[in-house]
Amino acid sequence: MTDMINIALPKGRLGDSVYDMFEQAGLDCPAIREKSRKLVFENPEKGVRFFWVKPSDVAIYVERGAADIGVVGKDILMEDRTNVYELLDLGIGKCRMVSAGPADFSYDSSNELRVATKFVNVARDFYAASGTDIDIIRLNGSIELAPILGLSDVIVDLVETGTTLRENNLQIIDVIADISARLIANKSAFKFKTKQIVNISNKLEDIIE
Ligand code: PRP
Repeated sequence: MTDMINIALPKGRLGDSVYDMFEQAGLDCPAIREKSRKLVFENPEKGVRFFWVKPSDVAIYVERGAADIGVVGKDILMEDRTNVYELLDLGIGKCRMVSAGPADFSYDSSNELRVATKFVNVARDFYAASGTDIDIIRLNGSIELAPILGLSDVIVDLVETGTTLRENNLQIIDVIADISARLIANKSAFKFKTKQIVNISNKLEDIIE
């Protein structure tokens, strides 16, 4: 009997699409479709055990080995810098990490640029690369509100359709990164369960649109 592969899925809309991919790849676990509050589901025949994890926690479960593999947004990998292998771009959950500001905003380099964001590490690295002095304002959501109320000059945030920016009279200044869901693996699990993990990664790669 081979070891089960423990898989951390991000709870929510992205997680549902991710599970669809696992199912299409033949790694199904029918009980997961039943409405319940359970968090762990396994299919011993297929050798898989799934956990529903808060999206921002997936990489921690994988880094610490509580899960062998998982699926997480590239935005979270960039921000949290967890020590995991990134195996595959699943091509879903696509959006962009951008800096954005009011249409009439112009940067006065004699002042610190006030940047509101959830992604403080990403923002620090991005502005450091151009030698821009910034004052980071860490927020947890509705980031677009900050420049409207004068709390910040600009924001660093995710843009999917662009609707939120548009409806709040903000525009993209720079695109920092293309974001999508990534398959990640724990480093030692990858060493000891290489065949099973590569097999799962290959099956998922085969069904990527
Ligand atoms: C995300 C992101 C933007 C918005 C972008 O917010 O932070 O605010 O979606 O999407 P759009 O370009 O399609 O309009 P989310 O809905 O996750 O809520 P949040 O404000 O709590 O981060």
